Amino acid sequence: MTDTITATLNASSKGSRMKVRKAVLPAAGLGTRFLPATKAQPKEMLTVVDKPQIQYVAEECVASGIEHIIIVTGKGKNSIEDHFDSAPALERFLEEKGRHDQAELVRKISNMLQVSYTRQKEPLGLGHAVLVARDLVGDEPFAVLLGDVLIPGKNPATKQLIDVYESIGVGAIAVEQVPKDKTHLYGIVDAVPAPQPPFGERLLRIRDLVEKPKPANAPSNLAITGRYVLPSAIFDCLERTKPGAGNEIQLTDALRILAKEQGLFAYIYEGISYDAGDKLGFLKATVEIALQNPEFGAAFREYLKTLKL
Ligand code: G1P
Repeated sequence: MTDTITATLNASSKGSRMKVRKAVLPAAGLGTRFLPATKAQPKEMLTVVDKPQIQYVAEECVASGIEHIIIVTGKGKNSIEDHFDSAPALERFLEEKGRHDQAELVRKISNMLQVSYTRQKEPLGLGHAVLVARDLVGDEPFAVLLGDVLIPGKNPATKQLIDVYESIGVGAIAVEQVPKDKTHLYGIVDAVPAPQPPFGERLLRIRDLVEKPKPANAPSNLAITGRYVLPSAIFDCLERTKPGAGNEIQLTDALRILAKEQGLFAYIYEGISYDAGDKLGFLKATVEIALQNPEFGAAFREYLKTLKL
């Protein structure tokens, strides 16, 4: 480890770090992988079982102690704002009909956390989308959650990363193993074990990262899963990041700079992620999350067993 990074780690372990209160949810993409469904509706509003995808991600934020989410939107995304807004007429209607549970369900969505919106005017990449949120984040650490990766469960991946950040004072990103022939679909990390209590073997120190390498060029099969907890220094790194893979400003490329200048950890998080970012992944996520549903999961399982496959 370089002296600069060691100094940063030492300085940050002396208690100067701040609580992670905010999260950025990039939601400006055109959703072309989901056409025709996304012709006139945002992909973030596609429903998995009974909730739009972005609500799963917002709920992960709440369960992780995040108080304020910043959604980076673009054209045609107004239904996201409507979804998190209050709906007095609907609530009144439900209350008058005696459907108090449903009224409460609707109310909870608008009350669960503070939501701010900003726009990415041009599709210049994930890194650029995060940079657009700079003023709203300010000078404090924050989480980034990609909306097409769903990680339901009682121990949120974002909370696990926050625990690493708040304990060590250095950014952390969630990783998981992927098949070697799938590395071109992800950011891949080059990382070495850096075990320490209470994180143990799950904690790795990142030496480098590559966005979507061909299997032959991949430094490992540990893929970035779409959950990040980062210091505000990432914004300066993003300012210095040139367009990379796909001619877009990649968050992964800014993370390379951050890893070199301040250090960065990878964390093999506990849990299962569903990549609902394409049609097949979306179907798998829908089936698996439906099977876990306390109300109708068992009945759905029985139904699936009757299918002649
Ligand atoms: C993005 C990131 C990539 C990460 C992936 C996780 O890619 O750029 O590093 O591994 O999300 O889903 P995207 O899937 O948006 O192309």
